[in-house]
Amino acid sequence: MEFSEIIKKRYSVRAYKARPVEDDKLGQVLEATRLAPTAANRQPFRLIVIRTAGRETELRRIYDRDWFTQAPLVICACAIPGQAWVRYKDNKNYSDVDVAIVVDHLTLAAADLRLGTCWVASFDMQAAREILRLPDEAEPVAFTPLGYPADQPGPKERKALSELVRYERWSGE
Ligand SMILES: Cc1cc2nc3c(=O)[nH]c(=O)nc-3n(C[C@H](O)[C@H](O)[C@H](O)COP(=O)(O)O)c2cc1C
Repeated sequence: MEFSEIIKKRYSVRAYKARPVEDDKLGQVLEATRLAPTAANRQPFRLIVIRTAGRETELRRIYDRDWFTQAPLVICACAIPGQAWVRYKDNKNYSDVDVAIVVDHLTLAAADLRLGTCWVASFDMQAAREILRLPDEAEPVAFTPLGYPADQPGPKERKALSELVRYERWSGE
């Protein structure tokens, strides 16, 4: 698919088929995350690929939606803030930004393969830590199911570019 097509076609999929994700497609999606840029190339992230079969009850403790466990796979994207680049002057840690780029690569690579994803940030942090046995240094940032869509995209509702983009400076005043 053309890149312009992929970014139009990606949408938040909230219904999935039980159809398995082929290993080579999972591999392609994961390779796209590996190639994501990160600040100072620190790559301060880890992904946990979770097979949902038999783990539905546990996963519902992390995010309680029917569709969350419908896909054969759920991926958890974790930051490792202690390994991330930190801006010298104000100590801003960029691990969340790095993970966001990684997840964006994941969702777009998946869409290219006609696989569905949905960013999930509204999860239970404690349940995620416990169930996935995360070490203290790892911070789960987002989850997404990965599977074949069983729904259709709705209209893309977005602000107009004229509202989102300014030129030269924030305001003329
Ligand atoms: C950082 C982030 C967190 C999100 N968290 C959730 C979530 O917890 N649950 C959910 O159903 N959708 C979640 N979404 C999906 C957004 O609601 C969705 O991307 C947005 O409404 C635009 O729709 P689209 O993805 O179909 O284009 C999240 C998206 C982003 C980028």
